[in-house]
Amino acid sequence: MKELLIGIVGTGSIASRFARACHMVEGVTPAAVSSRSEERGRLFAAENGIQEAFTGEEAMLASGKVDLVYVATPHPIHFEAVLLALRAGKPVLCEKPMALSGKQAEALFAEAERQHVFLMEGMWSRFLPCSRKALSWIREGRIGRVRMIDGAFTFTVDRQHPKPRLVRPELGGGAMFDVGVYTLEMASFYAGCNPESFSGYCEPFCPGTDGTSVLALRYPNGVLATLRMGIDCEAETYMKIYGEKGRIEIPRFFSAPQARLFEDGVLAETVSEDCELPKGFTWQIAAVRDDLSAGRLQNALVPKETTIACNRILGEMMASFFPDRYGNS
Ligand SMILES: NC(=O)c1ccc[n+]([C@@H]2O[C@H](COP(=O)([O-])OP(=O)(O)OC[C@H]3O[C@@H](n4cnc5c(N)ncnc54)[C@H](OP(=O)(O)O)[C@@H]3O)[C@@H](O)[C@H]2O)c1
Repeated sequence: MKELLIGIVGTGSIASRFARACHMVEGVTPAAVSSRSEERGRLFAAENGIQEAFTGEEAMLASGKVDLVYVATPHPIHFEAVLLALRAGKPVLCEKPMALSGKQAEALFAEAERQHVFLMEGMWSRFLPCSRKALSWIREGRIGRVRMIDGAFTFTVDRQHPKPRLVRPELGGGAMFDVGVYTLEMASFYAGCNPESFSGYCEPFCPGTDGTSVLALRYPNGVLATLRMGIDCEAETYMKIYGEKGRIEIPRFFSAPQARLFEDGVLAETVSEDCELPKGFTWQIAAVRDDLSAGRLQNALVPKETTIACNRILGEMMASFFPDRYGNS
């Protein structure tokens, strides 16, 4: 098998964990990084075992030294970074959320189709062993027909020294895009389809940025979901899936260290796996490697329909509460 050479766009915290994960996956090499700054690029390359550093994504694409581009910039910069790579004919794995609206996500998938190249949103949680086990319990009917999903992903930002990306409106700050995307895309994973309708509320952290938000969703198969997300709220992070005759509980569902199956109220099965990053990325990276070597243009676990439907809901929620910033996304 030919080694898959990955070019990373951005030198932030997730890019570094991704690079370390690439070193753990057979047949994959983090071969290049691009930064807005020559010095940051060089430093990142040295620290993460990467051979080439480029100043600017264009230079990396022009080098011909990468087979796949991984976009790890703040979310509002995903669109232009993904488009640039696709137009250069490169397959792309983009960090979550891929886009700020359904319209943007649709435009990116349309370009990928035009260029006949692979495109996927990096919803890595869908690939984790405990997430997949929970899905197989549902598909085997172990909890009966799924009726409700209850999910939450919250944390509190450091108010004195917040990470700019989390609180600055121009960097897509707030809970909805940063962690709400996990609640929405993982609830849809367990519901087995994409939402058909939703409503919700956002409470601002600062103008243009949501601190806490709630979403209520209905799926076409009758599953109802209630989701909570927050960057200024100390609460539990979990997902619970309730069926007619049992339930599944997944603590910290985004990294899914464990999944517990209850049948008729009794604990029937538990699976555990350490999936903290960087290791947690390895299943997703291996799946992308396999997709590319098989010539597939999409990934079966994170199809374009999910990304478009979920990016649309995130974008519409933000546009309805922060129209000045997101009304035209
Ligand atoms: N999958 C996960 O578990 C996970 C976890 C955290 C974040 N994420 C996602 O990954 C993306 C990046 O998050 P992060 O926490 O790594 O962000 P970060 O630490 O702020 O890094 C973002 C990087 O993007 C580059 N960049 C390009 N244009 C920029 C601009 N206008 N402003 C700021 N930076 C810019 C910067 O690198 P240069 O200056 O070198 O160009 C910067 O280091 C986000 O979309 C986020 O949702 C995913």
